[in-house]
Amino acid sequence: MTTRMGRRQLLALAGRGLGSAVVLSVMGGLRPAVARAAGDPLPAVLPPLPYAYEALEPFIDTQTMMLHHTRHHAALVTGLNNALSPYPELQAQSLGDMLANLDDLPAAIRTAVRNNGGGHMNHSIFWATMAPSGAGGGGEPVGALATAITVQFGSAGYLKSLINAAGASRFGSGWTWLACDSAGKLYVYSTPNQDSTYMSGHTSLLGIDVWEHAYYLRYNNRRADYLNAWWNVVNWSAVNARYETALR
Ligand SMILES: [Fe+2]
Repeated sequence: MTTRMGRRQLLALAGRGLGSAVVLSVMGGLRPAVARAAGDPLPAVLPPLPYAYEALEPFIDTQTMMLHHTRHHAALVTGLNNALSPYPELQAQSLGDMLANLDDLPAAIRTAVRNNGGGHMNHSIFWATMAPSGAGGGGEPVGALATAITVQFGSAGYLKSLINAAGASRFGSGWTWLACDSAGKLYVYSTPNQDSTYMSGHTSLLGIDVWEHAYYLRYNNRRADYLNAWWNVVNWSAVNARYETALR
């Protein structure tokens, strides 16, 4: 049986580039499968946006994008790195593995990694799965993901309504997700605060931030309007790429 120390050593190897698939096969499925994802490398860095702050207008306003990226996300990066700094050995892990196995972390930093690490991962995915409307953003799902959506949900329109409903009903702050498991099955649900789908052993494909900081300047308390508008900037090509990577 793989020991706890053995798992740590294997994860350290994964962090040096051997890949989580190798680790998981050696470990016999002791840990949930986690695909490599945006936000994984540690120490964490604030990823540059792949578009200008004003590029998602009018659906997401420039000031919100700037504050969200340079203040909110930056604070999560700092918080995560501060939490991990006394534990350099942990930085050989991927953040996705860490979030999937929070109980393996020292108790002193478990909550900080859950909140700051989850937030860093969630926001990194959020930026990467949006694009300017009409220039990569909006439209319909593509590729293998489009097929899976049709099979499981019947239509992209119905899927959107489920994701919007999960986001609208989230009390307080959180996220609404399309996620998948290692077999490619799709899931729609909401997580509170900065909780990650990786905590459920899933891969985040698409997430909409429903913290008020993500929409309040333009939409005030009208979260449902923000959720409806968000689909104009969804980057289905990027979401499908995440799905196809998760299936490998
Ligand atoms: Fe946010």
